Amino acid sequence: MAVINQKGGSGKTTTCVNLSAALGERGRRVLVIDMDPQASATSWYNIKDPGRGVTEIFISDQPLLELVRATEVMGVTIVPASAWLSGAEKALRWESEALLRFRNSVKALPAGQWDYLIVDCAPTLGILTANALIAVQEVLIPVEAHHLALPGVDRVIASVDTLRANLNPQLEITLILPCRVDPRTRHCREVVRELRSRFGNLVSKVEIRENVRLAEAPSKGLPITLYDSNSHGAQDYRELAEEIIAAENGRV
Ligand SMILES: Nc1ncnc2c1ncn2[C@@H]1O[C@H](COP(=O)(O)OP(=O)(O)OP(=O)(O)O)[C@@H](O)[C@H]1O
Ligand SMILES: [Mg+2]
Repeated sequence: MAVINQKGGSGKTTTCVNLSAALGERGRRVLVIDMDPQASATSWYNIKDPGRGVTEIFISDQPLLELVRATEVMGVTIVPASAWLSGAEKALRWESEALLRFRNSVKALPAGQWDYLIVDCAPTLGILTANALIAVQEVLIPVEAHHLALPGVDRVIASVDTLRANLNPQLEITLILPCRVDPRTRHCREVVRELRSRFGNLVSKVEIRENVRLAEAPSKGLPITLYDSNSHGAQDYRELAEEIIAAENGRV
């Protein structure tokens, strides 16, 4: 599953980290892959010495399995990112060999070791995000509950359509997730209503509420489920995990 939105600050990393932790808590084995040179998921998961991390698959052909690191969170392992990734991104050409690197690395992972692979993407449709979209089957789009965020959803859908038509026929948008929702604000309620009327069942049942504990958690190096287990943020991401688990029977 790739977590993407070309709009910056839409809740991708927050979703990646806290959804993976909530799935881990429910006994799922999750591999998080940080495909963002900002390496925010890597530092949130408290990986202090990431080395070159996922960059290796682009520069040295090192198997992805050798790059997997443990985290302090039950069920969750991570392939970290590092600043090296932005250098690699600049050096890569838009050619099939570079576009298929990540897919080929994922295919070489041992079968059955993980239940979910979740890729945190940068807010650009560069070659790294393209690599993610070519490798995965599902796309989760976090959308900040703000009017300005709505055109961004159309851009993501257009990008996914292009990738599906050309390089990855299996690619599907499986979830649009309203994030940073303040249910007391009319503006937020309107944006969520518009998302639901345009995208119907693609929009998750759960809405991730604005919750300051979610903003604090990265500085503690803990997902919200461990940082403040009773917060709204923990409740909402646990509910999201339940929705995804409930849909497992329909998955490949
Ligand atoms: N539900 C929430 N409640 C409060 N703050 C939130 C919530 N979701 C995200 N944030 C805050 O919003 C900011 C952006 O979130 P996040 O880093 O997850 O977005 P992103 O899409 O990964 O950003 P980027 O495009 O830079 O990778 C962060 O400061 C984060 O703490
Ligand atoms: Mg991010």
